[in-house]
Amino acid sequence: MCGIVGYVGTQQAAPILIDGLSKLEYRGYDSAGIAVRDGENEPEIIKEKGKLKVLAEMTNNGKAVVGCCGIGHTRWATHGEPSAVNAHPHASDDLNVIAVHNGIIENYQELREKLEKHGYVFKSQTDTEVAVKLIDYYYKKYAPLPVEAIARSMVRIRGSYALCIMFKDYPGEVYCARKDSPMIIGIANGESYVASDVPAILKYTRNVYYIGNMEIAKLEQGNVTFFNIDSEVIEKPLTEIRWDAEAAEKGGYEHFMLKEIHEQPKVVRDTINSVVHEGVVHFDSVNLTDDEMKEIEQIYIVACGSAYHVGVALQYVIEELTSLQVRVELASEFRYRKMQLHKKSLVIVISQSGETADTLAALREARDNGIKTLGIVNVVGSTIAREAENVFYTLAGPEISVATTKAYSCQLVAGYLLALQFAKARGEIEEARYQELIEEIFTIPDKIERILEDKERIQWYSNKLVNVTDSFFIGRGIDYAIGMEGSLKLKEISYIHSEAYAAGELKHGPISLIEDGTIVISVVTQSNLVEKTISNMVEVKSRGAKVMAVTTMGNYYLEDTAEFTCYVPKIDNLFAGSLSVIPLQLLSYYVSIGKGYDVDKPRNLAKSVTVE
Ligand code: F6R
Repeated sequence: MCGIVGYVGTQQAAPILIDGLSKLEYRGYDSAGIAVRDGENEPEIIKEKGKLKVLAEMTNNGKAVVGCCGIGHTRWATHGEPSAVNAHPHASDDLNVIAVHNGIIENYQELREKLEKHGYVFKSQTDTEVAVKLIDYYYKKYAPLPVEAIARSMVRIRGSYALCIMFKDYPGEVYCARKDSPMIIGIANGESYVASDVPAILKYTRNVYYIGNMEIAKLEQGNVTFFNIDSEVIEKPLTEIRWDAEAAEKGGYEHFMLKEIHEQPKVVRDTINSVVHEGVVHFDSVNLTDDEMKEIEQIYIVACGSAYHVGVALQYVIEELTSLQVRVELASEFRYRKMQLHKKSLVIVISQSGETADTLAALREARDNGIKTLGIVNVVGSTIAREAENVFYTLAGPEISVATTKAYSCQLVAGYLLALQFAKARGEIEEARYQELIEEIFTIPDKIERILEDKERIQWYSNKLVNVTDSFFIGRGIDYAIGMEGSLKLKEISYIHSEAYAAGELKHGPISLIEDGTIVISVVTQSNLVEKTISNMVEVKSRGAKVMAVTTMGNYYLEDTAEFTCYVPKIDNLFAGSLSVIPLQLLSYYVSIGKGYDVDKPRNLAKSVTVE
């Protein structure tokens, strides 16, 4: 939800800001803007509606703007429609304070009324303009000290924010403030950077500071000073980012999504290798001991979107391998439920970004109730990673495409390993079965590779779906969980209406929607449920549906019912989801491309949902 960048150094700021914003466009892309200052001269603010490309063209990729200090923004509208006037940066009328903002200011209406009484006039409908003018108000009312003015404003503002601010009286400085919205600060020789996310600055530096909640930073050339809310200087450790800079580039692929689909064998292997040594799972890095695992009686998995679908699949896996009760909850619902949480429980939150507002709120809710928490998180240093008691890092690397693929696959294997370790710690699995399953998990990367080699067949079939308006995904057990993910992938990037149903539910209503030509995609990998799902396929086919099946090699008889069958290698039922999801990712990708859509940046979506 909005990406922000800032730079102070010896080079021209605008090209660096535009380049940084291009790495953050997945966070929002309805308008973009920069403010750049050349020494003591008046800052230049350029902003426009539309994707970053529009701003890049207006400024000749930033080359037309002079100055070594600046801030930039790519927007996902919350308050006020996408327009040039609502685009960031926003400024006080005399350009005393200029800022970009990611987050939501909940009490902006009340603050706006207060400021209007003091003569402030508002040009935009944004909550950000209110923050800018509030800082300006305190700056002018009390001592003209940026940190003081920001701190006073932070006390008055309710909501979430990552703010980058420039002050007229302080050329060559960028100030930052953070509460509940992501922000990292990077430093290199004589240069300082700030951004919403690592990929924006990875090209320039790997040395970063994580600014905490309710903290302020002052960026000067190659120097950063941190302050707490009382304006006292505080120290922060410098952390080295291990991500490969190449990982945030397209690397020869036409789109990030295709690149990320192809990265899955590697990142899944990396994630497995991070905790499995010599055939045994070690959770030292996760910080969850066998004794703690023995004590737990109930698991709640809480997440949003695709991460929630991972939870649905893991529920089957954990319940099959252990005696644990598992409940999977949508984070947006969990946080407002009046649910008595079992005291001996573990709340597992799953999040690629580690910043999803609802997932974070659920995590905090669990902690407030004294419940043990574990985060399965991809972004190192993200808020969820910092606030969960235990963290299992997936090693997917930066995921840029808005639709998740490789992070989803890493979350799934992380969950399998967790389930196995629970089973072992609790003495609920025999050693031979444990070893067998570990070996099966190690086969997943190569098997994904084999599916990817067959992608042309899926590309061919995807052409048939380009003009389709409705589709249904069906499956039973883990296949149902994968159908949910396949359905979300298709709808979010190809804008085809799609729903996932547990195949057994069809007769309880949805089958009335089936008519001539309706597309039904059936996931059929669970060997004990194949016949049951085939009978559902036959039912929809006899009512005119065109059926596609994703199934395990050997189930060739499905071709009697399906008009197109896609085979995945054999694997233990428990882990089949890691394979069957791959053709569904490819299918959605090719349908979206076939329809001419911007597959990496689907309309109305942002990668990191940091607002409710
Ligand atoms: C869909 C997708 C989203 C995310 C969801 C949670 O392709 O990517 O549904 O899974 O927004 O995001 P994280 O994992 O960052 O919490």
